[in-house]
Amino acid sequence: EKAGYDHFMLKEIYEQPRSIRDCLRGRISPSEGTVQLGGLKDYDEKLKNANRIIIIACGTSWHAGLVGEYLIENYARIPVEVEYASEFRYRNPVVSEKDIVIAISQSGETADTMAAIELAKSKGALILGICNVVGSSITRLTDGGAYTHAGPEIGVASTKAFTAQVTVISLMAFYMAQLRETTSPTVLKELITELDSIPTLVEKCLATEEATKYIAEEIKDAVSCLFLGRGTGFPVALEGALKLKEISYIHAEGYPAAEMKHGPIALIDDELPVVVVATKTSSYKKVLSNIQEVKARKGKVIAIITEGDEKIKKEADFVIEIPDAHESYLPLLATVPLQLLSYHVALLRDCNVDQPRNLAKSVTVE
Ligand code: F6R
Repeated sequence: EKAGYDHFMLKEIYEQPRSIRDCLRGRISPSEGTVQLGGLKDYDEKLKNANRIIIIACGTSWHAGLVGEYLIENYARIPVEVEYASEFRYRNPVVSEKDIVIAISQSGETADTMAAIELAKSKGALILGICNVVGSSITRLTDGGAYTHAGPEIGVASTKAFTAQVTVISLMAFYMAQLRETTSPTVLKELITELDSIPTLVEKCLATEEATKYIAEEIKDAVSCLFLGRGTGFPVALEGALKLKEISYIHAEGYPAAEMKHGPIALIDDELPVVVVATKTSSYKKVLSNIQEVKARKGKVIAIITEGDEKIKKEADFVIEIPDAHESYLPLLATVPLQLLSYHVALLRDCNVDQPRNLAKSVTVE
Protein backbone atom coordinates (compact mmCIF):
# COMPACT_ATOMS: atom_id res chain seq x y z
CA GLU A 1 0.00 0.00 0.00
CA LYS A 2 2.87 2.34 0.69
CA ALA A 3 4.24 1.55 -2.75
CA GLY A 4 7.74 0.92 -1.42
CA TYR A 5 7.88 4.04 0.76
CA ASP A 6 8.48 3.72 4.51
CA HIS A 7 5.51 5.88 5.37
CA PHE A 8 2.31 7.11 3.79
CA MET A 9 3.44 10.66 4.41
CA LEU A 10 6.53 10.21 2.26
CA LYS A 11 4.54 8.46 -0.44
CA GLU A 12 2.03 11.29 -0.44
CA ILE A 13 4.76 13.94 -0.59
CA TYR A 14 6.17 12.16 -3.64
CA GLU A 15 2.75 11.91 -5.25
CA GLN A 16 2.44 15.68 -5.54
CA PRO A 17 3.57 16.10 -9.15
CA ARG A 18 0.88 13.56 -10.05
CA SER A 19 -1.81 14.94 -7.74
CA ILE A 20 -1.35 18.50 -8.96
CA ARG A 21 -1.45 17.29 -12.56
CA ASP A 22 -4.71 15.43 -11.83
CA CYS A 23 -6.10 18.54 -10.23
CA LEU A 24 -5.34 20.61 -13.34
CA ARG A 25 -6.55 18.04 -15.84
CA GLY A 26 -9.34 19.32 -18.07
CA ARG A 27 -9.48 22.59 -16.19
CA ILE A 28 -6.89 24.71 -17.97
CA SER A 29 -6.15 25.50 -21.56
CA PRO A 30 -2.66 26.99 -21.73
CA SER A 31 -2.97 27.66 -25.48
CA GLU A 32 -6.10 29.74 -24.96
CA GLY A 33 -5.09 31.05 -21.56
CA THR A 34 -8.40 30.03 -19.99
CA VAL A 35 -9.69 28.16 -16.96
CA GLN A 36 -12.84 26.04 -16.82
CA LEU A 37 -14.45 24.97 -13.58
CA GLY A 38 -17.66 23.04 -14.11
CA GLY A 39 -18.67 23.35 -10.47
CA LEU A 40 -18.61 27.15 -10.58
CA LYS A 41 -20.19 27.95 -13.91
CA ASP A 42 -23.77 28.09 -12.63
CA TYR A 43 -22.67 31.01 -10.48
CA ASP A 44 -20.87 33.14 -13.07
CA GLU A 45 -23.18 36.12 -12.56
CA LYS A 46 -22.77 35.99 -8.82
CA LEU A 47 -18.98 35.68 -9.07
CA LYS A 48 -18.85 38.55 -11.54
CA ASN A 49 -20.63 40.84 -9.10
CA ALA A 50 -19.20 39.48 -5.87
CA ASN A 51 -18.71 42.01 -3.07
CA ARG A 52 -16.72 39.80 -0.80
CA ILE A 53 -15.44 36.27 -0.41
CA ILE A 54 -15.12 34.60 2.96
CA ILE A 55 -12.86 31.57 3.09
CA ILE A 56 -13.59 29.16 5.92
CA ALA A 57 -11.32 26.30 7.00
CA CYS A 58 -9.21 24.80 9.79
CA GLY A 59 -5.53 23.89 10.11
CA THR A 60 -3.63 23.26 6.92
CA SER A 61 -6.73 23.97 4.85
CA TRP A 62 -6.85 27.42 6.45
CA HIS A 63 -3.28 27.97 5.22
CA ALA A 64 -4.45 27.14 1.69
CA GLY A 65 -7.15 29.77 2.26
CA LEU A 66 -4.49 32.38 3.04
CA VAL A 67 -2.83 31.64 -0.29
CA GLY A 68 -6.27 32.09 -1.86
CA GLU A 69 -6.58 35.52 -0.29
CA TYR A 70 -3.42 36.71 -2.04
CA LEU A 71 -4.41 35.29 -5.39
CA ILE A 72 -8.11 36.22 -5.45
CA GLU A 73 -7.44 39.77 -4.30
CA ASN A 74 -4.54 40.19 -6.70
CA TYR A 75 -6.11 38.73 -9.84
CA ALA A 76 -9.88 38.90 -9.34
CA ARG A 77 -9.91 42.07 -7.20
CA ILE A 78 -12.54 40.78 -4.79
CA PRO A 79 -11.97 41.48 -1.08
CA VAL A 80 -11.28 38.25 0.80
CA GLU A 81 -11.42 37.32 4.45
CA VAL A 82 -9.92 34.07 5.67
CA GLU A 83 -11.53 32.73 8.82
CA TYR A 84 -10.93 29.89 11.20
CA ALA A 85 -14.23 28.02 11.05
CA SER A 86 -14.25 27.62 14.84
CA GLU A 87 -14.02 31.39 15.40
CA PHE A 88 -16.35 32.39 12.61
CA ARG A 89 -19.18 30.17 13.80
CA TYR A 90 -19.30 31.67 17.28
CA ARG A 91 -18.66 35.30 16.40
CA ASN A 92 -22.07 36.40 15.16
CA PRO A 93 -20.39 37.33 11.87
CA VAL A 94 -21.85 39.81 9.38
CA VAL A 95 -22.82 37.69 6.38
CA SER A 96 -25.49 38.23 3.74
CA GLU A 97 -26.71 36.88 0.43
CA LYS A 98 -24.17 39.16 -1.25
CA ASP A 99 -21.31 37.12 0.16
CA ILE A 100 -19.64 34.07 -1.30
CA VAL A 101 -18.19 31.54 1.09
CA ILE A 102 -15.48 29.13 0.02
CA ALA A 103 -15.07 26.26 2.48
CA ILE A 104 -11.83 24.28 2.21
CA SER A 105 -11.59 20.80 3.72
CA GLN A 106 -9.60 17.72 2.82
CA SER A 107 -11.86 15.29 4.66
CA GLY A 108 -15.10 17.16 4.09
CA GLU A 109 -16.09 16.11 7.61
CA THR A 110 -14.57 18.76 9.89
CA ALA A 111 -17.22 19.67 12.47
CA ASP A 112 -16.33 23.35 12.84
CA THR A 113 -16.17 23.88 9.08
CA MET A 114 -19.57 22.25 8.68
CA ALA A 115 -21.12 24.41 11.38
CA ALA A 116 -19.61 27.56 9.85
CA ILE A 117 -21.05 26.61 6.45
CA GLU A 118 -24.48 26.07 7.96
CA LEU A 119 -24.36 29.45 9.65
CA ALA A 120 -23.33 31.26 6.43
CA LYS A 121 -25.97 29.35 4.51
CA SER A 122 -28.70 30.38 6.94
CA LYS A 123 -27.76 34.00 6.21
CA GLY A 124 -28.14 33.45 2.48
CA ALA A 125 -24.51 33.28 1.31
CA LEU A 126 -23.54 31.18 -1.70
CA ILE A 127 -21.40 28.28 -0.49
CA LEU A 128 -18.62 26.82 -2.62
CA GLY A 129 -16.46 23.94 -1.48
CA ILE A 130 -12.93 22.72 -2.09
CA CYS A 131 -12.86 19.14 -0.83
CA ASN A 132 -10.79 16.07 -1.42
CA VAL A 133 -13.10 13.30 -0.28
CA VAL A 134 -15.77 12.71 -2.90
CA GLY A 135 -19.29 12.59 -1.48
CA SER A 136 -18.20 13.77 1.98
CA SER A 137 -20.60 15.73 4.21
CA ILE A 138 -19.27 19.15 3.21
CA THR A 139 -19.71 18.43 -0.49
CA ARG A 140 -23.38 17.81 0.26
CA LEU A 141 -23.76 21.12 2.09
CA THR A 142 -22.25 23.27 -0.65
CA ASP A 143 -23.93 24.82 -3.71
CA GLY A 144 -20.94 24.20 -5.96
CA GLY A 145 -17.17 24.02 -5.92
CA ALA A 146 -14.33 21.88 -7.12
CA TYR A 147 -12.71 18.68 -5.96
CA THR A 148 -8.98 18.57 -5.37
CA HIS A 149 -8.59 15.08 -6.91
CA ALA A 150 -5.50 14.38 -4.77
CA GLY A 151 -6.60 10.82 -4.05
CA PRO A 152 -6.87 9.32 -0.55
CA GLU A 153 -4.57 10.94 1.99
CA ILE A 154 -3.67 8.47 4.74
CA GLY A 155 -0.89 10.30 6.59
CA VAL A 156 -2.48 12.40 9.32
CA ALA A 157 -0.31 15.38 8.43
CA SER A 158 -1.73 16.86 5.27
CA THR A 159 0.68 17.15 2.34
CA LYS A 160 -0.66 16.42 -1.14
CA ALA A 161 -4.13 17.63 -0.13
CA PHE A 162 -2.64 21.03 0.75
CA THR A 163 -0.90 21.53 -2.59
CA ALA A 164 -4.04 20.38 -4.39
CA GLN A 165 -6.14 22.87 -2.39
CA VAL A 166 -3.71 25.62 -3.34
CA THR A 167 -3.96 24.53 -6.97
CA VAL A 168 -7.77 24.67 -6.90
CA ILE A 169 -7.91 28.05 -5.19
CA SER A 170 -5.45 29.36 -7.81
CA LEU A 171 -7.75 28.06 -10.54
CA MET A 172 -10.70 29.74 -8.84
CA ALA A 173 -8.80 33.04 -8.63
CA PHE A 174 -7.99 32.88 -12.35
CA TYR A 175 -11.54 31.82 -13.21
CA MET A 176 -12.95 34.82 -11.39
CA ALA A 177 -10.33 37.11 -12.94
CA GLN A 178 -11.34 35.87 -16.37
CA LEU A 179 -15.05 36.49 -15.67
CA ARG A 180 -14.50 39.90 -14.15
CA GLU A 181 -11.82 40.95 -16.64
CA THR A 182 -9.64 42.18 -13.82
CA THR A 183 -6.43 40.66 -15.20
CA SER A 184 -5.33 41.07 -18.80
CA PRO A 185 -5.74 38.00 -21.03
CA THR A 186 -2.00 38.09 -21.78
CA VAL A 187 -1.08 37.94 -18.12
CA LEU A 188 -3.64 35.19 -17.48
CA LYS A 189 -2.27 33.20 -20.38
CA GLU A 190 1.26 33.44 -19.01
CA LEU A 191 0.09 32.40 -15.56
CA ILE A 192 -1.89 29.44 -16.86
CA THR A 193 0.97 28.32 -19.07
CA GLU A 194 3.28 28.41 -16.09
CA LEU A 195 0.74 26.59 -13.91
CA ASP A 196 0.79 23.78 -16.45
CA SER A 197 4.52 23.34 -15.78
CA ILE A 198 4.22 23.38 -11.98
CA PRO A 199 4.04 19.56 -11.63
CA THR A 200 7.45 19.34 -13.32
CA LEU A 201 8.85 22.00 -10.98
CA VAL A 202 7.40 20.17 -7.97
CA GLU A 203 9.34 17.11 -9.15
CA LYS A 204 12.48 19.22 -8.92
CA CYS A 205 11.53 20.30 -5.41
CA LEU A 206 11.45 16.62 -4.40
CA ALA A 207 15.14 16.51 -5.26
CA THR A 208 15.75 18.65 -2.16
CA GLU A 209 15.25 15.55 0.00
CA GLU A 210 18.99 14.97 0.45
CA ALA A 211 19.49 18.55 1.61
CA THR A 212 16.55 18.28 4.03
CA LYS A 213 17.98 15.06 5.53
CA TYR A 214 21.21 16.85 6.25
CA ILE A 215 19.49 19.89 7.75
CA ALA A 216 17.20 17.65 9.81
CA GLU A 217 20.30 16.40 11.66
CA GLU A 218 21.10 19.99 12.55
CA ILE A 219 17.69 20.86 13.97
CA LYS A 220 16.56 17.58 15.47
CA ASP A 221 17.45 18.61 19.02
CA ALA A 222 16.06 22.13 18.83
CA VAL A 223 13.52 23.10 21.46
CA SER A 224 11.81 25.51 19.15
CA CYS A 225 11.97 26.65 15.56
CA LEU A 226 10.83 29.86 13.86
CA PHE A 227 9.50 29.99 10.28
CA LEU A 228 9.41 33.30 8.44
CA GLY A 229 8.01 34.39 5.09
CA ARG A 230 6.36 37.34 3.39
CA GLY A 231 3.60 37.58 0.82
CA THR A 232 2.77 34.13 -0.49
CA GLY A 233 5.75 32.94 1.56
CA PHE A 234 3.88 33.71 4.79
CA PRO A 235 1.33 30.87 4.49
CA VAL A 236 4.28 28.65 3.55
CA ALA A 237 5.96 29.60 6.83
CA LEU A 238 2.78 28.78 8.76
CA GLU A 239 2.44 25.44 7.01
CA GLY A 240 6.12 24.59 7.55
CA ALA A 241 5.76 25.28 11.26
CA LEU A 242 2.54 23.29 11.56
CA LYS A 243 4.08 20.26 9.83
CA LEU A 244 7.13 20.34 12.09
CA LYS A 245 5.16 20.60 15.33
CA GLU A 246 2.61 17.98 14.29
CA ILE A 247 4.98 15.21 13.45
CA SER A 248 8.23 15.94 15.28
CA TYR A 249 6.74 17.58 18.41
CA ILE A 250 9.25 20.41 18.20
CA HIS A 251 7.59 23.68 19.03
CA ALA A 252 7.44 25.82 15.92
CA GLU A 253 5.93 29.13 14.99
CA GLY A 254 5.27 30.66 11.61
CA TYR A 255 5.42 34.42 11.36
CA PRO A 256 5.28 37.11 8.70
CA ALA A 257 8.96 38.01 8.36
CA ALA A 258 8.36 41.68 9.05
CA GLU A 259 6.57 40.93 12.31
CA MET A 260 9.74 39.36 13.69
CA LYS A 261 10.89 42.63 15.15
CA HIS A 262 7.61 43.07 16.97
CA GLY A 263 8.30 40.21 19.34
CA PRO A 264 9.80 36.92 18.15
CA ILE A 265 13.22 38.52 17.63
CA ALA A 266 13.60 38.24 21.42
CA LEU A 267 13.76 34.46 21.00
CA ILE A 268 16.76 34.47 18.71
CA ASP A 269 20.01 33.03 20.03
CA ASP A 270 22.50 30.48 18.72
CA GLU A 271 20.12 27.64 19.60
CA LEU A 272 17.18 28.78 17.53
CA PRO A 273 16.81 27.52 13.97
CA VAL A 274 15.05 30.08 11.79
CA VAL A 275 13.66 28.79 8.53
CA VAL A 276 13.22 31.63 6.07
CA VAL A 277 11.33 31.50 2.78
CA ALA A 278 13.72 33.71 0.83
CA THR A 279 13.13 33.08 -2.86
CA LYS A 280 13.37 35.79 -5.51
CA THR A 281 9.98 37.42 -5.11
CA SER A 282 9.04 41.08 -4.86
CA SER A 283 9.96 41.04 -1.16
CA TYR A 284 13.38 39.44 -1.68
CA LYS A 285 15.42 42.39 -0.42
CA LYS A 286 13.33 42.78 2.69
CA VAL A 287 13.61 39.10 3.52
CA LEU A 288 17.36 39.27 2.96
CA SER A 289 17.60 41.99 5.58
CA ASN A 290 15.52 39.85 7.96
CA ILE A 291 18.11 37.10 7.46
CA GLN A 292 20.87 39.55 8.32
CA GLU A 293 18.98 40.56 11.47
CA VAL A 294 18.75 36.93 12.54
CA LYS A 295 22.44 36.33 11.80
CA ALA A 296 23.44 39.43 13.77
CA ARG A 297 21.86 37.71 16.80
CA LYS A 298 23.59 34.41 16.04
CA GLY A 299 20.44 32.59 14.96
CA LYS A 300 20.83 29.56 12.73
CA VAL A 301 19.36 30.41 9.32
CA ILE A 302 17.94 27.79 7.00
CA ALA A 303 16.87 29.55 3.83
CA ILE A 304 14.68 28.32 1.02
CA ILE A 305 16.15 30.08 -1.98
CA THR A 306 15.79 30.32 -5.72
CA GLU A 307 18.27 28.01 -7.45
CA GLY A 308 21.65 29.62 -7.90
CA ASP A 309 21.15 32.50 -5.44
CA GLU A 310 24.77 33.00 -4.37
CA LYS A 311 24.01 36.01 -2.25
CA ILE A 312 21.83 34.23 0.31
CA LYS A 313 24.10 31.17 0.20
CA LYS A 314 26.76 33.39 1.74
CA GLU A 315 24.50 34.71 4.48
CA ALA A 316 22.58 31.60 5.53
CA ASP A 317 23.89 28.58 7.45
CA PHE A 318 22.00 26.17 5.22
CA VAL A 319 20.08 26.59 2.01
CA ILE A 320 17.51 24.58 0.15
CA GLU A 321 17.32 25.48 -3.53
CA ILE A 322 14.07 25.37 -5.44
CA PRO A 323 13.35 26.26 -9.08
CA ASP A 324 12.46 29.80 -10.04
CA ALA A 325 8.75 30.44 -10.61
CA HIS A 326 6.19 33.20 -10.42
CA GLU A 327 5.63 34.20 -6.79
CA SER A 328 1.98 33.20 -7.02
CA TYR A 329 3.22 29.61 -7.25
CA LEU A 330 5.72 29.83 -4.42
CA PRO A 331 3.43 27.91 -1.99
CA LEU A 332 3.22 24.96 -4.39
CA LEU A 333 6.99 24.69 -4.54
CA ALA A 334 8.44 25.95 -1.26
CA THR A 335 6.09 23.83 0.86
CA VAL A 336 7.55 20.61 -0.53
CA PRO A 337 11.03 20.86 1.05
CA LEU A 338 9.41 21.88 4.34
CA GLN A 339 7.26 18.74 4.27
CA LEU A 340 10.42 16.70 3.66
CA LEU A 341 12.29 18.54 6.40
CA SER A 342 9.64 17.85 9.03
CA TYR A 343 9.43 14.23 7.87
CA HIS A 344 13.18 13.71 8.37
CA VAL A 345 13.27 15.52 11.71
CA ALA A 346 10.40 13.32 12.91
CA LEU A 347 12.21 10.17 11.75
CA LEU A 348 15.37 11.17 13.59
CA ARG A 349 13.31 11.73 16.72
CA ASP A 350 11.61 8.34 16.37
CA CYS A 351 8.18 9.82 16.07
CA ASN A 352 5.19 8.11 14.55
CA VAL A 353 5.16 10.02 11.29
CA ASP A 354 1.87 8.76 9.88
CA GLN A 355 -0.05 8.86 13.12
CA PRO A 356 1.26 11.57 15.38
CA ARG A 357 0.09 11.47 18.99
CA ASN A 358 -3.20 13.16 19.89
CA LEU A 359 -4.17 13.86 16.28
CA ALA A 360 -6.94 12.41 14.13
CA LYS A 361 -7.25 12.51 10.37
CA SER A 362 -10.63 14.09 10.48
CA VAL A 363 -11.83 16.21 13.35
CA THR A 364 -15.53 15.41 13.53
CA VAL A 365 -16.04 16.89 16.98
CA GLU A 366 -15.45 20.51 17.84
C1 F6R B 1 -2.57 19.38 9.33
C2 F6R B 1 -3.88 18.80 9.29
C3 F6R B 1 -5.01 19.51 9.95
C4 F6R B 1 -6.18 19.64 8.98
C5 F6R B 1 -7.40 20.24 9.66
C6 F6R B 1 -8.55 20.45 8.70
O1 F6R B 1 -1.62 18.59 8.72
O2 F6R B 1 -4.06 17.79 8.68
O3 F6R B 1 -4.62 20.78 10.42
O4 F6R B 1 -5.78 20.43 7.91
O5 F6R B 1 -7.82 19.38 10.71
O6 F6R B 1 -8.96 19.26 8.14
P1 F6R B 1 -9.85 19.20 6.84
O7 F6R B 1 -9.06 19.79 5.74
O8 F6R B 1 -10.14 17.75 6.64
O9 F6R B 1 -11.09 20.01 7.11
